[in-house]
Amino acid sequence: MKFFIDTANLAQIKEAQELGILDGVTTNPSLMAKEGIKGKDAIMKHYVDICNIVDGDVSAEVIATDFDGMIKEGEEFAELHPQIVVKVPMIKEGIKAIKYFSEKGIRTNCTLVFSAGQALLAAKAGASYVSPFVGRLDDISTDGLRLIEDIRVIYDNYGFATEILAASVRHPMHIIECATIGADVVTCPLSAITALLKHPLTDSGLATFLADAKK
Ligand code: G3P
Repeated sequence: MKFFIDTANLAQIKEAQELGILDGVTTNPSLMAKEGIKGKDAIMKHYVDICNIVDGDVSAEVIATDFDGMIKEGEEFAELHPQIVVKVPMIKEGIKAIKYFSEKGIRTNCTLVFSAGQALLAAKAGASYVSPFVGRLDDISTDGLRLIEDIRVIYDNYGFATEILAASVRHPMHIIECATIGADVVTCPLSAITALLKHPLTDSGLATFLADAKK
């Protein structure tokens, strides 16, 4: 399973890259705003900066919601760097754009996916990744991980090449459950990845080993 980090924060991306387990980065307009990145030139530069840190795919989300606008933005993103994947929202125009990009050889990540039907459409259109939002479904008392299971079954039934990128993954159990189900990728904050390191028996066992080594 690939690990992507869901942030536009360069320091956190560097920290995850240095850990040696990072496979890519996802961003969205909210994450870019959180880092204070404003204006087209600054946003484009920031995507290149991210690509220069990480070895792997970097999702850059279009702001336009009409077909022509999405194509224009997506083509500009794709020209920026070979690691860029164009992130497109799950709307009717978005599906048309994903089909267009797929025929042009431009890779896409279909975002804001909350149902198996939406994931099926994204795969049919040729999306490289589909991003079901696990945490946001949990937030409204709906089982986000069940959606990952359903998409896994559907994609395996028909051999779709679209990778399931479990998004809105917020804590270590989400990551472990996604790995159990067979998600291709998880994207989450750095804190959820580093939380996987922790176990009290590791800490107490290491303390004992180090104390015994001094004897
Ligand atoms: O990037 C999309 C998704 O990962 C957002 O997560 O925690 O804002 O629901 P969250």
